[in-house]
Amino acid sequence: MLNDIERVLISEEELDSIVSKLADQINHDYVGKKLLLVGLLKGCIQFMSDLSRKITLPCEFDFMVASSYGSSTETSGVVKVTKDLSIDIAGYDVLIVEDVVDSGVTLNYIINMIKDRNPASLKLCTLLDKPVRRKKEVHIDYKGYVLPDEFVVGYGMDYAEKYRNLPFIGVLKREIFS
Ligand code: IMP
Ligand code: MG
Repeated sequence: MLNDIERVLISEEELDSIVSKLADQINHDYVGKKLLLVGLLKGCIQFMSDLSRKITLPCEFDFMVASSYGSSTETSGVVKVTKDLSIDIAGYDVLIVEDVVDSGVTLNYIINMIKDRNPASLKLCTLLDKPVRRKKEVHIDYKGYVLPDEFVVGYGMDYAEKYRNLPFIGVLKREIFS
């Protein structure tokens, strides 16, 4: 599996410091709030796991599964929600936890869907942002790292469902895509 990686883009140590900075901001902003972390599966798992352990405030977890992706690296533009939230989020301060905002198609759809359910507040925290790829506007409240137009794997992110267990974020060798 490591043989498939062209280079490491964000090391474990760098991820730890990026995630710590995000948690510091969240710990500052959510004092006295009814914080609900909403993770977008499956990509969020490593990030949400590490981020939430650095959050020192009371919070609850919920998850959604939504995608605009097949097994390829390009969005299809159509969003499917295959697992919805399990609680009524009215009155909660919802913080969406996402691995990467790419075209913005998925998040744009999810944000509008969650807004309609009357949360007390709604914000977005993403580990990675690929602004050059944006097709739909998305407001990001907490952002870990800005990426160029590159497809990355590891730390929850996959290519054809593989590489999610890598502890760092890396770029795949070109031959893997072909
Ligand atoms: P969007 O709707 O195009 O913004 O797609 C967002 C989703 O596509 C992310 O939550 C990821 O699951 C996936 N995605 C986008 N870019 C990458 C990448 O570089 N590597 C792995 N997954 C990605
Ligand atoms: Mg995702």
